[in-house]
Amino acid sequence: MTPEPHSPTGTDDLLSEPPPSCPAHGTGPGGLRRLYGPEAQDLAGLYEKLRAEHGAVAPVLLHNDVPFWMVLGHGENLHMVSSPSLYTRDSRIWTAVLDGTAGPDHPLMPHIAWQPICSHAEGDEHQRLRGAVMGAMSTINSRTLRRYINSWTQYLVNKFCERGTADLVSQFAEHLPMAVLCEILGMPEEYDDRMVHKTRDLLKGTETAIASNEYVMNVLMRLTVRRRAEPAEDFTSHLINHPAGLSDEEVGQHLRLVLLAAYEATANLLANVLRVVLTDPGFRAQLNGGQMTVPQAVEQSLWDEPPFSTVLGYFAKQDTELGGRRIRKGDGLLLGIAPGNVDPLVRPDLKANMRGNRSHLAFGGGPHECPGQDIGRAIADVGVDALLKRLPDVQLAVEEHSLRWTASISSRHLVELPVEFDPASPQDVMERPGVSEVPRPRPDWEVSSARLKPSPAPRPVEPRPEALPPAPAPDSGRPLGAWQRFLRWWRGY
Ligand code: HEM
Repeated sequence: MTPEPHSPTGTDDLLSEPPPSCPAHGTGPGGLRRLYGPEAQDLAGLYEKLRAEHGAVAPVLLHNDVPFWMVLGHGENLHMVSSPSLYTRDSRIWTAVLDGTAGPDHPLMPHIAWQPICSHAEGDEHQRLRGAVMGAMSTINSRTLRRYINSWTQYLVNKFCERGTADLVSQFAEHLPMAVLCEILGMPEEYDDRMVHKTRDLLKGTETAIASNEYVMNVLMRLTVRRRAEPAEDFTSHLINHPAGLSDEEVGQHLRLVLLAAYEATANLLANVLRVVLTDPGFRAQLNGGQMTVPQAVEQSLWDEPPFSTVLGYFAKQDTELGGRRIRKGDGLLLGIAPGNVDPLVRPDLKANMRGNRSHLAFGGGPHECPGQDIGRAIADVGVDALLKRLPDVQLAVEEHSLRWTASISSRHLVELPVEFDPASPQDVMERPGVSEVPRPRPDWEVSSARLKPSPAPRPVEPRPEALPPAPAPDSGRPLGAWQRFLRWWRGY
């Protein structure tokens, strides 16, 4: 980091701070607050302290006391992500990398280290890589996607509905996005408990994370080779065949990026929305009474508990100014999604309902703005709606205060969401979706947008024996309810 006044290590603004490493204040060198260690147990509280002390942009310390800027203001975050001439996501220009302060063994390097993928690229290279991802995404038919989400929700609920209890994090929120993503990428047969477990393990960065990453990469590289030889109508084939001409390695890395970014964020979003629906009586009443729709509830959650709380990071390409701070070329800045979303300048009353307002920072912004946001929203909208229709009396099975989260600088993850409900019979999902249950898309359902190509019928794939769903419950002989009739119509039989 630049050892000059106004940089995070040596700014004039810090002269009034406590002395270096003051134990009374729990601060680090330069009197700066640490985004790790005991004080960071409550990151939301820490961000508010920083806002009170420094305003919209605060100097902080990452692990190993490496200096960084934390961007807390909503407008300042938007300005940063929307100014590619001033800020880049290419960490190779970060002063701490250049001077060796943050070496390859820095704990946050997996988030920061440059990789040849669109999230770290800029300019023409960014357009080439992102163009291929967006091109492949534009071939996903929104109605077919919603049908997949609905079918997989029915399948997952069938697995626990007879018990009357479930953990909606490990049995639903952590599974639905993976099942739908495997479907989108063109490998429905790869969705199983192991795929979920390996992906979670690699995201947690445990000692087995490297082996788990290898497992996931092997699956994705096998898919790449298969689709290069024999294209099908799926995201992977469209990515391979995009005029940008991605190499197999680039295809594999972008499949990994899409799988991980989409999986973790959407699993968090699903769990967060369900948690609020179950714990906030006003929320549920508004949903039931029709004053709020599930998409509005999802948008409210994206404001209050964004699935990624920060993005590490952006890097200054030249000396500049942000939020009244002088930023030096090579300084690193955290995109502060969670603190930006509660900036008092845009949300003076945090309890006020945002009524579907989408100007939160949950999907970032500027050239790197999340290209998969509509897919993430669709999984949450359809998944939560379908689950609540299947289990209308679902309620939390524990005291709200006993719910636990794991938190890192990048995200906050609900550990469990135990619920109870009246045991119910499985719905008539006869087979695992993605194998043969998903109905053939009917031409008259297709969106007639010129941007979207019609989706073909899903390929029949041999199910793995261990992945087969439980046998359907015997027919109760009762007349079908409205929801079951709707489901039959929806599935086309
Ligand atoms: C609730 C769900 C999701 C959330 C909250 C989310 C959030 C984000 C955020 C914050 C970024 C970084 C933006 C920046 O650097 O300024 C991002 C990038 C990205 N996301 Fe998402 N995401 C979600 C779902 C998805 C899905 C479903 C996909 C794909 C199917 C996806 C694919 C990507 C990709 C490829 C990038 C990199 C884009 C680039 O750098 O040009 N995301 N997402």
